[in-house]
Amino acid sequence: MIKDVQRQITELKKRNGVCILAHSYMPEEICEIADFTGDSYALSVKAKTATENTVIMCGVRFMAETVKMLSPQKKVCLANSQAGCPMAEQFDKDVIAEVKKMYPDYAVVAYINTTTELKTLADVCVTSSSAVKICRAIPQKNILFIPDINLGTYVKNLVPEKNFKLLSGGCPTHARIEAEEAVAVKAAHPDALFLVHPECRPEVTALADYVGSTSGIMDYAEKSAAREFIIGTENAIVQHLQYRCPDKKFYPLSKDLLCHNMKITTLADVLGCLNGEGEEIVMDEALRLKAVKSIEEMIRYGG
Ligand code: 13P
Ligand code: SF4
Repeated sequence: MIKDVQRQITELKKRNGVCILAHSYMPEEICEIADFTGDSYALSVKAKTATENTVIMCGVRFMAETVKMLSPQKKVCLANSQAGCPMAEQFDKDVIAEVKKMYPDYAVVAYINTTTELKTLADVCVTSSSAVKICRAIPQKNILFIPDINLGTYVKNLVPEKNFKLLSGGCPTHARIEAEEAVAVKAAHPDALFLVHPECRPEVTALADYVGSTSGIMDYAEKSAAREFIIGTENAIVQHLQYRCPDKKFYPLSKDLLCHNMKITTLADVLGCLNGEGEEIVMDEALRLKAVKSIEEMIRYGG
């Protein structure tokens, strides 16, 4: 059944010249039919360079909006229109505009997990894999980092030469994990390396052997000579790694590390998009032009 749907998807996307992008949190059966899988930064770069006229994003809304911003001439569909990112939608533009007024001499550095409206207020966007490099590289010394306090704290600690103001936003999936849980899992697997996403709390990342983006965690585990790993990010990454490295062992940091929004996209949704269903991203051109600058800046500084 799964193979049948995958075959139909593969035939239709080839026939109609469609590029399917999938974030690494998508399940294995969706990654298998994707033309490209990766972390938020790699997906953004791919969105710019893909030659197909239609893109289907298997991920969450801000990712599909990023593709549309970078390639307005393309038809961009979000495979499942219910897939939002609670962190991205956490702050209204008006709230951030007020905070910005309080810190007029601060550059606004926005995590890419933000709405298009919020990106219009940002000087530059960052992803989890590019945040440290970009905060170091931008000329401004004062940085208002929005919205993730955990990623912001991680960056702030590695870039002590800059002044940071942080907001109290964050990812409900990663932020719910407490240090005690990490200590207990490490004690249960004393030989395992602990790999953590920077959206986790500072007390959790402080216990890590490696901190990085979803792709960073996967690359690290694949290349490492170690045999066991505790994975401190969405549990799809545990599944992908176990599939890619059958001779290594991967343990989830927590059974609760599940992003429901990343779980709702199915192969049936992708097939539906290829058959003209699904949500096409429509974006006001004036809004796009204001918001895309921060993404273009991110790509200019590199990942
Ligand atoms: P990455 O940039 O590591 O892919 O992270 C995206 C995300 O939503 C993590 O929660
Ligand atoms: Fe958003 Fe967190 Fe889900 Fe990533 S894991 S998409 S930040 S809610």
